[in-house]
Amino acid sequence: MTKEIIGSIELNRIYQMDCRDGMKLIPNGSVDLVVTSPPYNIGKEYEKKQPLEAYVYWMMQIIDECVRLISDNGSIVFQVGNYVNDGAVYPLDCILFPEFAKRGLIPRNRIVWTFGHGLHCTKRFSGRYETALWFTKTDDYVFNLDAVRVPQKYPNKKHYKGDRKGELSGNPLGKNPSDVWEISNVKHNHPEKTDHPCQFPLDFANRIILSLSNEGGVVLDPFMGSGTTAVGAVAHQRKFIGFETEPKYIEIANKRLDSIFHPESSIPEKR
Ligand SMILES: C[S@@+](CC[C@H](N)C(=O)[O-])C[C@H]1O[C@@H](n2cnc3c(N)ncnc32)[C@H](O)[C@@H]1O
Repeated sequence: MTKEIIGSIELNRIYQMDCRDGMKLIPNGSVDLVVTSPPYNIGKEYEKKQPLEAYVYWMMQIIDECVRLISDNGSIVFQVGNYVNDGAVYPLDCILFPEFAKRGLIPRNRIVWTFGHGLHCTKRFSGRYETALWFTKTDDYVFNLDAVRVPQKYPNKKHYKGDRKGELSGNPLGKNPSDVWEISNVKHNHPEKTDHPCQFPLDFANRIILSLSNEGGVVLDPFMGSGTTAVGAVAHQRKFIGFETEPKYIEIANKRLDSIFHPESSIPEKR
């Protein structure tokens, strides 16, 4: 396969690098979609908890680069949960939203991702959702709704009167999936589970990639983790750019990618 390069970055490769350094190597406007889930500053094995102000300052630098990198019809999807400190719960999307808005991005959806499993809290209601903020740079943006429609509740329902009597009343391709997505999170028994502690599910990445980018487009995940964004991009004929600081996660991601690039010689994910 011939290598494709933009700036000094090779496409379809995960670089072991701090994304703040890596993103500097990509030319302005050369990314069609950023989809990412950054660390939430909650002390996971891959992050050092820092004061909230310092975390937000770090995120501002990442957001600045994302804004510079997306094309005029591109999108940014930032998936986050809560920052929790001494029992106080701060929703990161609320804290980060103004940073995107200040930079002139246009908010399109605040997607609520709900899942059935998580910690059982005793001093507050158990958290069963996270969110994804979707922003575009302009009003001329990619949105392939037909690629992500979901089955209608009553697919055979027909108009019972008027000019269209007898015709299907809903779109036969399915309905808009709405801004509430019920998708299992990747816990121990999930078929996609790897040794990464915080993967997002492929169904989640796929829906974003299919709807907000076109075939051949470039998808960037600055916090690549176990490679879910990369797997979703390649499986749907997009190209990816990825950064990740931890070599052990890059190894996991590359194994997942191998099963797509070389399906004949690898063991498939347990689906
Ligand atoms: C929430 S996880 C992303 C998980 C990913 N969405 C997946 O499905 O596997 C965040 C990742 O960012 C990585 N990370 C933390 N700081 C980083 C940095 N400065 N540059 C690049 N990656 C970083 C962590 O090692 C971790 O794997």
